[in-house]
Amino acid sequence: MKAVVLCGGEGTRLRPFTYTQAKHLLPVAGRPVVEHALKAVREAGIRDVAIVVSPSVEAQFRERLGDGSRIGLRVAYAVQPEPKGLAHAVLCAEEFVGDESFLVYLGDNLLQGGVTGVVDLFRSQNPAAVVTLRQVEDPRRFGVAVIENGQLVRLVEKPKDPPSDLAIVGAYAFTPLLFQAAREVKPSFRGELELTDCLQWLVDRGHRVLPYRVEGWWQDVGRPADLLVANRLLLTQIEPRVEGEVDAGSTVEGPVVIERGARVLGSRLIGPVVIGEEAVVERSTVGPNAAIGPRAVVRDAETADSILMDGARVEGLTLQESVIGREAAVRVDPSCAALFLGDHGSATIRSSQHVSS
Ligand code: G1P
Repeated sequence: MKAVVLCGGEGTRLRPFTYTQAKHLLPVAGRPVVEHALKAVREAGIRDVAIVVSPSVEAQFRERLGDGSRIGLRVAYAVQPEPKGLAHAVLCAEEFVGDESFLVYLGDNLLQGGVTGVVDLFRSQNPAAVVTLRQVEDPRRFGVAVIENGQLVRLVEKPKDPPSDLAIVGAYAFTPLLFQAAREVKPSFRGELELTDCLQWLVDRGHRVLPYRVEGWWQDVGRPADLLVANRLLLTQIEPRVEGEVDAGSTVEGPVVIERGARVLGSRLIGPVVIGEEAVVERSTVGPNAAIGPRAVVRDAETADSILMDGARVEGLTLQESVIGREAAVRVDPSCAALFLGDHGSATIRSSQHVSS
């Protein structure tokens, strides 16, 4: 079985971060969003993966993930020339898939239990497709499915009047018959070729489409605030490891990852926390739920529930629920701020007694 991980889309709702970085390469809990998805693919026992990307970000993906060997996979790339929908994106990987069955996983959908369950169900039952479903409060934002006698009978994309509360989660398993479906369905109301319509196409022709229901958390990363939610959820799963330096004046509580070359000096870490390679944490309190990127600096500061990307600097303030872009800097007199600051951005906040009139 192979996997096709979809990483198209412009990520417009994640600006300014996506002006300079592909959405799926933004860091969450110490590694790019897509690497969490790829880890789940590997855990499901799949080694051959095609990542479908838009042309503008292909080079970024190749630079970051290469041939996949660093993360135990064989990664190929397929380019989707235009964003014409998920089924269109899968068609771009048809040559890679060949005549094998395959997992389709939306690279920004993070699942507590990974994708092992959907893959195992497909392997044991040999249906035409398995689709992951989860009960949600407002199904109108999703594809929605109706189950009868253990099989899917109806699937609707973004229904105004949802026929059930079961949303389609972004993890599916298919036989190559999916390619025929994707060629035959018509563009939807939003002008896209939908996987949801392909599933209905299979059902209408009498093929067996099975549900795989999940109950754990499911988080997609669409807006800046989602980055923080995903960060918090994924940090609960870290395996503690200290490869960097923690000096005698520092304390560590809870699960913490400290990467090679990182230095923690006179500071307090409250896990879960990840400190990236070559980062410096000095006279500061970091955590809980903080991911400090490689080469970032936290000095005379406190930060919790935040993401600092590569080379970001935070000095002299309490920073909570914030996302700071690569090489961006925040320096403050004692104060408190909540910022979504893009790459190379800079914010200087002075306390009132320093402002001269
Ligand atoms: C896509 C699918 C939808 C599914 C959702 C899961 O929606 O079309 O059926 O429920 O992913 O994240 P989109 O993110 O394209 O709006």
